[in-house]
Amino acid sequence: MGFDLDVVVVGGCGHVGLPLAIAFADRGLQVASYDIDLRAAAKVASGEMPFDEPGAPEVLRRVIAAGRLQAGTDAAVVSRAENIVVVVGTPVDEHLNPDPQAVPAAVEAIAGELRPGQLLVLRSTVYPGVTALVEHVVERLGVAVDVAFCPERIAEGKALTELFELPQIVSGRNEAALTRARKLFEVLTNETVELLPEEAELAKLFTNTYRYLKFALANQLYMMANDFGLDYERIRRGVTHNYPRAADLPGAGFAAGPCLLKDTMQLAAFNNNNFVLGHAAMMVNEGLPLYLVDRLARRYDLSRMTVGILGMAFKAESDDTRSSLAYKLKRILRFKAAGVLCADPYVKSDGSLVPAEELLERSDLVVIGAPHRRYSEMTIEKPVVDIWGVRGDGVMV
Ligand SMILES: NC(=O)c1ccc[n+]([C@@H]2O[C@H](COP(=O)([O-])OP(=O)(O)OC[C@H]3O[C@@H](n4cnc5c(N)ncnc54)[C@H](O)[C@@H]3O)[C@@H](O)[C@H]2O)c1
Repeated sequence: MGFDLDVVVVGGCGHVGLPLAIAFADRGLQVASYDIDLRAAAKVASGEMPFDEPGAPEVLRRVIAAGRLQAGTDAAVVSRAENIVVVVGTPVDEHLNPDPQAVPAAVEAIAGELRPGQLLVLRSTVYPGVTALVEHVVERLGVAVDVAFCPERIAEGKALTELFELPQIVSGRNEAALTRARKLFEVLTNETVELLPEEAELAKLFTNTYRYLKFALANQLYMMANDFGLDYERIRRGVTHNYPRAADLPGAGFAAGPCLLKDTMQLAAFNNNNFVLGHAAMMVNEGLPLYLVDRLARRYDLSRMTVGILGMAFKAESDDTRSSLAYKLKRILRFKAAGVLCADPYVKSDGSLVPAEELLERSDLVVIGAPHRRYSEMTIEKPVVDIWGVRGDGVMV
């Protein structure tokens, strides 16, 4: 059967799906972004990004104008594409339980659109065993579709460079699925790494867990140094200067966002909740805002002060507030301080934010909540707490 589209991305207007769709289209493929989010799909169809991603707006406009990318909410488009890439969200719930059914459910929802000869690529970060689960779904449907698992490893904000630069992990149970997946991702990069599906599922979770644990180590070392009355950044400079074995020791900061904690907890759940290092990392990273406020409360009578938080996104130069620890800091301060004001030039989803000038005017104390570059040079005439070290004035609190 012939297909008039090369790729349809299911979840194609999300933070991962949209850059991927844009990248494929920019490399000359005929692509569709299929999503259940009406607002996001309408924006994309009109050539507008629903969220910030550096470099993406120009390319999106270009591929829409060239007729190589379409976006919509009609699942029928799935039947027209040779390759279906599923990259829907896979969050853990409020009790940190993963939902192994998130991806199979998205596949079930498009079951009526599957056609013989298609390649179904799972791209979400999944609970180990989900690829096999989807293979069973496809088998039960009785439609001759190859299944591959090729995890996304970009960092938000770098998607449009990393999609072309990072090696792509590709996996499939049989030669046909593997070869087809490799061919698809070779459109983006000439470096692929082949694994078995279960190896690839763990590889993705190990990647994010490794990062999460590294940040936890840095944060714990930061707290140790700080409790001892020393500046972690000065020590880190000593550790890392021309010393390759420790060159990747991170600075302190909030390890937050939609992926790192979530994926560490997926791995913990997979290992029967027996993941001492993962859970310890969670306690350190999630505990950092509490530690900060505790330290501040020793120095200041917070009950009489207004505290300003500069930066609410989960990381620098981002508009994404998902699982941002700046919001946890805000919740703690609202309980302890007389007032809390928050500002972020990138975030558009929070009507309670105030302009930075107003925050600086009305606050007695300022905490950097996200290390946006602009804060490094900003004139601030109030005490500043900067655990990230963006201002270069020390990180002690
Ligand atoms: N955000 C990152 O930096 C990042 C990096 C690598 C991997 N991942 C993984 O990629 C996956 C997606 O993450 P994200 O940040 O893009 O999430 P997201 O919420 O930004 O995007 C998911 C999109 O899927 C859509 N969707 C949900 N169910 C659907 C369905 N049944 N049919 C069609 N569309 C549907 C949503 O409307 C949304 O637009 C997750 O598994 C995540 O762990 C994320």
